[in-house]
Amino acid sequence: MTPVTKGAPAVKTLPDAQTVTSVKHWTDRLFSFRVTRPASLRFRSGEFVMIGLMGDPDPKTGKQKPILRAYSIASPSWDEELEFYSIKVQDGPLTSRLQHIQPGDEIILRPKPVGTLVHDALLPGKRLWFFATGTGFAPFASLLREPQTYEDYDEVIITHTCREAGELTYGAELIEGLKTDELLNELIGEGFWKKIKYYPTTTREESAKMGRITDLMRSGEAFADLGVEPLNPDTDRAMICGNLAFNLELKDMLDGYGLEEGANSKPAQYVVEKAFLD
Ligand code: A2P
Repeated sequence: MTPVTKGAPAVKTLPDAQTVTSVKHWTDRLFSFRVTRPASLRFRSGEFVMIGLMGDPDPKTGKQKPILRAYSIASPSWDEELEFYSIKVQDGPLTSRLQHIQPGDEIILRPKPVGTLVHDALLPGKRLWFFATGTGFAPFASLLREPQTYEDYDEVIITHTCREAGELTYGAELIEGLKTDELLNELIGEGFWKKIKYYPTTTREESAKMGRITDLMRSGEAFADLGVEPLNPDTDRAMICGNLAFNLELKDMLDGYGLEEGANSKPAQYVVEKAFLD
């Protein structure tokens, strides 16, 4: 079968092609999809790879170039497939087409995982915070399904700020699904999910909790709601993944709590990564 969908040209001839196995549309702005995993691909939960599609042929030369973007792998390192969570930008060079992919289609995937949102970049701690906005949830979708997250920490707090309530569904369903995750229940123990505190907020549509997480932390409301103390460099570790303004603001706040930024080469108390933007 030669999979060809409107806006998503087949890439069968390319060396780094992977086949789409499923696609789910969450809102008119968000979708997730799964693809086959290259047999040789090893990655650490939280890392990203470059994925994309072939662009239109150049009108002069007729040559096609791949359009590639960095995407966090949303599935954990043990999964036999790879999952991605993406925004749809109607005039975006890649996502205007990628949003039309269907099972059987092929995408380009460069099998070179990298990234700082990995356990190796953090020093040991007791409580791990995941701070996400929008599709910045993706690396945490991987890390929340990674046994090491619960082996290394007593408590895991995930905050997710989105514009609208429907944009929280992917994350909310994933977290709910952890309760019946066979691997984690077996490896970490029944009820492991009680270690997780989930704090979803919206900024442009009514929901149970409204406001930017940064404001809610500044006012103390988030800590009161969660029933925890503010971040402390002795016990708390954090990973940040969202839009640029959010990352910068939260980074300043974590510096203010006395946490230091880490990297693969120098583990410390928190790490930051920019969520993919088209
Ligand atoms: P807001 O609606 O107040 O801009 P986006 O879709 O633009 O990437 O935003 C995703 C979420 O991140 C939105 O809820 C947005 O809130 C929020 N956000 C944007 N900038 C910041 C920031 N500097 N600090 C905290 N949250 C932010």
